[in-house]
Formats: sequence, C-alpha cells, structure tokens
Amino acid sequence: MAKAKSHHVKDTKLAKAGKKRVDWAARDMPVLSAIAERFRKEKPFRGSKMSACMHVTAETANLMRTLKAGGADVALCASNPLTTQDDVAASLAVDDKVATYAIRGEDSKTYYSHLRLVIERGPQLTMDDGADLVSLLHTDLAKYAPAVRASMEETTTGVIRLKALEKEGNLTIPVIAVNDADTKHMFDNRYGTGQSTLDGIIRATDVLLAGKTVVVVGYGWCGRGVASRAAGMGSHVIVTEVNPIRGLEAAMDGYRVMPMAKAAKEGDVFITVTGNRHVIAGQHFAVMKHGATVCNSGHFDLEIDLVALTKQAKRINRNVRNCVDEYIMKGGKSIYVLAEGRLVNLSAAEGHPASVMDMSFATQALAAEWAIRKSAKGSLEVKVHDVPESIEASVSTLKLASMGFKIDKLTPEQKEYLASWTIGTT
Ligand code: ADE
Repeated sequence: MAKAKSHHVKDTKLAKAGKKRVDWAARDMPVLSAIAERFRKEKPFRGSKMSACMHVTAETANLMRTLKAGGADVALCASNPLTTQDDVAASLAVDDKVATYAIRGEDSKTYYSHLRLVIERGPQLTMDDGADLVSLLHTDLAKYAPAVRASMEETTTGVIRLKALEKEGNLTIPVIAVNDADTKHMFDNRYGTGQSTLDGIIRATDVLLAGKTVVVVGYGWCGRGVASRAAGMGSHVIVTEVNPIRGLEAAMDGYRVMPMAKAAKEGDVFITVTGNRHVIAGQHFAVMKHGATVCNSGHFDLEIDLVALTKQAKRINRNVRNCVDEYIMKGGKSIYVLAEGRLVNLSAAEGHPASVMDMSFATQALAAEWAIRKSAKGSLEVKVHDVPESIEASVSTLKLASMGFKIDKLTPEQKEYLASWTIGTT
C-alpha cells in the first residue's frame, strides 16, 4: 500500500535509465517542446495543482515536464496497472520532482490508493486517461470536486463514460474531451494504435504476420489503424463490427467482414479494439483454432471474457513467454492470451511512438491552458467541452511544419466563393 509520501515508484535507482528514455522521446516531440518553451515564459498554470492519471511512459513524462514548465505543481499516477515504465516513473520522481505514484504490475488496491493520493492533494486541474479520476471525484472523493476547475480526458472510453455522466445530469466538473479532437484521435488512435499494437504482438510472440489471418474486432479509429497496418504486413484481415456503416467502410477498404461466430473459426490472431465488454466470449474460444492468439488494445481489460476462457481451460501456463499466457483447453488445443487482456501495445511494447503522442499531448497541454484561462474568467460551463478549433489548427500547423511540409492558403476569391450561395451552375 502506498503511503502519503512524495512518490511511490519501483526503484529510484532506475532514474538514470528513465531520463535517457524521456530525453530520447523529447527529440520526437517538437510541438510539445515549443509549447513548453512558451509555457516556461508565460506560466499559465502558476499556483495550480494538477493531478494526472495516465500511462506512465516517456511521452507522458514529457507532458508532465511541459505542465511543470507552465508553473503547475504536478502529480501523476498510472491509468493502468500494467503500462508503467518503471524507469520513467523513477526519473519523473527524482529528476523532475513530479509526485509520481506508479509501479508496473501494481495490484488493484495499490492502483486505487495511488489514485486517491493524487486527488487528496486537492488539484485545480485533473487529466485522465479513462476517466478514473473523474469517476472518484463523483463518488468516494466527491469532497475534492468543488476545487477542480477543469478536467481533460485523453481516451475514447473516458469520453464515453463522461458523456454518460453528463447525460444522467450528474456531471459536476467541466471536462474537455481531448480524445475527440481531430489532432488526437485521427492520428493517435489510428496510426499510434495501429503501429504499437502490432509492435506489442510481435514483441510478445515473435509471430510472422505475413500470411496470417488477423481478426480486428471493431472498426473505429483504432480498428482502422490496426487493420491497415496488419494488411501492410501481409496479413489477411477480417473485421467484425456491430455498426453497419463501419462494417461497410471496412468492406470497401478491402477487408472481409463477418460475425465473430464465423471469424472465431478462421483467425490466427485476434485484436479487440471496441471499448465494449466480452466481444470475444466463451462460444468463440470454443471454436478457435489450436494456437490462436488473443489480445486487446482497447482501454479496459474486459473486451476478452477471460473468466469464460479460464472455466473452459484445463490448465493455464503463465508467462510461457513474457506477456504470454497459454490456456490449454479441455480438448487439448492451446489459446494464447497476451498481456492478461490489458492494452497489449503499452504492456508488451512501449505504447504509441513519441512522434504521434506529440500531437495528442500538445492538444492536452493547450486544452489545459484554455480551460484554466476560461475558468479564471468564470466562463467555463460544467459540461463535456470539445477542444476549440484554434487549438487544433495550431497543433496541426506546428506538426506539419516540424515535418517539413507546407500547404496552400485560400485566395481572397476562394474565401469569398466559399462564403456565398449565389454562384451556381455556369
Ligand atoms: N497511450 C498510447 N500510447 C501512449 C504513450 N506512448 N504514452 C502515453 N499514453 C499512451
């Protein structure tokens, strides 16, 4: 159990290795670095406590450094028990003096004690990846909610939870749906999840994806990315969906689309990215091939029904390779589960590359600045807010420039044409 101390990390001696990793990631985060530079001068968060619950990675460390540069007193805990990079956590605590509470593999009790610790500091701003902090601020720790001026949310699942809370009429804190910004989900969810999920599967199993049948469960932004990357590696991709438009899109993108009951018999590798529970369930395991590999890249570890799988298994061999559990079924076949059904990209690999987190975290940093300034003027309503378009324009312009690309500008005639209705068929 964590005590109320300045940090709770695995081993502070890992700080040196962690710092190297954080500095390496910084090289690929030019937009965030430019924002940090400005924050250092303007100190938009001066006097504010900020508590974040996010995957503790080298990229997140750069976001924490940026918020600190802006004058925030920052605390960080993990948003998933299995995704903490212990060396990075150590470096944040030791080198950056961020109150860090995160240990890879922490049990549920420790996980929640860490969340409590960052809330009990009494933050004015919070930042979530999955809405666990905001959830506590509406239940057990509601007494800390009135001090919170705004909360930022990083991921699809978190935004869904927050919108449900808003719909019930019980939301008490203004929240900013950072995930819904184009500069976040179109890049992070698609290219980030696409690449890092395959990276996690390959690191865990050493599978050759060429020629394999990969079943992508869910065709949202993450599913689109995973499917296109798997196809690029030479896999035969099957998509399963519940939404007809997304199913149609997958079909026209060139994939086979079918119900899970059928896909279960064909797949070699299954990847869930739906945000929903039990999308691979008992009846599906029953018909899978010997040697099928099952993993998840959605936020929570409930997409694969591991309780059903455990009941169907005769024996489980844990850690036959790092992050791989073998379930030996009663009939004798094996099914491999990666990273205990938790986010395979962050548990078995390093999460999304820094270059794409640069955009997500630049959007986070600017959204936090916007929220605190608006709150200071008393004009930040209690609701789920979209990220302002000006922030999206600024992040995408800076990112394009950092990649060495330029785009055109509308001419005055083009602007006039777009603003008028009078010119029709000529
Ligand atoms: N989510 C996915 N990849 C991530 C990363 N590298 N850092 C933080 N959060 C992430």
